[in-house]
Amino acid sequence: MGALAGALPSLLLGMLLMSAPETLGANPGLVVRITSKGLEYVAREGLVALQNKLHKITLPDFTGDVNIKHVGSGHYELYSLEVHSCELLGSALTPLPGQGLHFSISDSFIRVKGKWKVRKWKLKLQGSFDLKVEGITISVNLLLGSEPSGRPKVTVSSCSSHIRDVETHVSGDLGWLLNLFHSQIESKFQRMLESKICEKIEDSVPSDLQPYLQTLPVTTEIDDFTGIDYSLTEAPRATAQMLEVMLKGEIFSRDHRSPVAFLAPVMSLPEEHSRMVYFAISDYAFNTASLAYHEVGYLNFSITDDMVPPNSNLRLTTKSFRAFAPRLGRLYPNMNLELQGAMVSAPSLNFSPGNISSAPQMEVEAFVLLPNSVREPVFRLGVATNVSATLTFNTSKITGFLEPRKIQVELKESKVGVFSVEMLEALLNYYILNTLYPKVNDKLEKGFPLPLLKQIELYDPVLQIHKDFLFLGANVQYLRV
Ligand SMILES: *[C@@H]1O[C@H](CO)[C@@H](O)[C@H](O)[C@H]1NC(C)=O
Ligand SMILES: *[C@@H]1O[C@H](CO)[C@@H](O)[C@H](O)[C@H]1NC(C)=O
Ligand SMILES: *[C@@H]1O[C@H](CO)[C@@H](O)[C@H](O)[C@H]1NC(C)=O
Ligand SMILES: *[C@@H]1O[C@H](CO)[C@@H](O)[C@H](O)[C@H]1NC(C)=O
Repeated sequence: MGALAGALPSLLLGMLLMSAPETLGANPGLVVRITSKGLEYVAREGLVALQNKLHKITLPDFTGDVNIKHVGSGHYELYSLEVHSCELLGSALTPLPGQGLHFSISDSFIRVKGKWKVRKWKLKLQGSFDLKVEGITISVNLLLGSEPSGRPKVTVSSCSSHIRDVETHVSGDLGWLLNLFHSQIESKFQRMLESKICEKIEDSVPSDLQPYLQTLPVTTEIDDFTGIDYSLTEAPRATAQMLEVMLKGEIFSRDHRSPVAFLAPVMSLPEEHSRMVYFAISDYAFNTASLAYHEVGYLNFSITDDMVPPNSNLRLTTKSFRAFAPRLGRLYPNMNLELQGAMVSAPSLNFSPGNISSAPQMEVEAFVLLPNSVREPVFRLGVATNVSATLTFNTSKITGFLEPRKIQVELKESKVGVFSVEMLEALLNYYILNTLYPKVNDKLEKGFPLPLLKQIELYDPVLQIHKDFLFLGANVQYLRV
């Protein structure tokens, strides 16, 4: 059926995505919650799609014998039956706790037009007829699960359809013909249509909806380095109020994905139902991203004298250090220095109500650049800073921005005696504010993609920051093509 083949996959299952098999069972890094309001919307869209599908139902011809007054028994044929109009009115999609979803249609009608022909010897009568099929109800249970691959799975666990009444209009108003319809055709037609409707639904779930789900990517690229894994960690969970889909939500390095040594936290989601869909994104997603970028050395940096602003009091030359680190100048006269920086470990983000922060620790090693490309390590600095982040949810993705903060520098180790790092602090601060922050902010501006399918648009976004996770809500619009 079109409702399930057309709109359900895009709307509902589009929000669920997929991937790595070995991960089933772990806490999800991302939870997609579809509220009753969201399900109502999907049901409305599903109705439209089903209506279109039923319009295309093909109906068989009917043949048989009929008794005509004064003439006797003749042979009738009903042919060229087609659905002329189909109006489905009441639809509902409700969670089926522990199983999946229940989709129902009530109070709907279909009009079928066709032609009739009756033959007896040389006598041939023909005309057209019109069947009004009223009080159609359809009830479908969908079982939702997850495949070993982490992709969602949907099957029909039951389908029933019922028609209250079939009414006939025949051109010519022939009594015997109306009788034929009342006594034979209408009930046959009713049973045929009832089974056709469920047949259509039962066929298109495995043949349209499930293959469609299989085409969804297991992972989505974020950029050249990283991808995000949206595999289901368990079967979608239906409760009385909503449907929740648990996804891995792990960001990984595309070059060499390695197992993550920490677990996603358990998220206790707020009871909010005013939007159609909510996304809870745990710090796991962000911290696995941090790990992936850390592993490729994204935040490694190197500062050489040519990068120092011309008006700086300090140059990266041993001569410039003479005033406060005299041994450096004495041991290595007239040479250049290079500062090499890296994060001590992947910076983790701390989510607390209303606030996101991080306290990255860097290490900067200074080398004297000797002739013959030999680099002699001379001292090591520890650099600490507090970073706070602001996030924006602009309906297609979450973007971020880091607020620059001053750094604190300490001398950790020195082969050239103890010296004051004040001047170096200013230089590093300059570099970090003007180069490192913008580099990270560029990346954050590109954002974190939400697991949404094509033709889905979100509006009315809300964003909340809770302990350990972000909570985004929005209403959904399906763009029909
Ligand atoms: C980043 O710098 C650290 C410290 O210098 C180093 O151990 C690491 O290998 C570098 N990472 C990459 C990918 O270059
Ligand atoms: C975030 O946390 C910092 C320090 O913990 C605090 O100064 C700041 O006011 C907080 N911001 C918000 C929006 O709560
Ligand atoms: C970061 O914040 C913590 C707690 O507020 C504070 O103790 C520490 O000194 C700060 N570090 C820097 C480099 O500002
Ligand atoms: C959201 O951000 C993306 C990327 O920055 C941008 O292309 C898009 O137009 C923005 N959408 C809205 C609704 O502001």
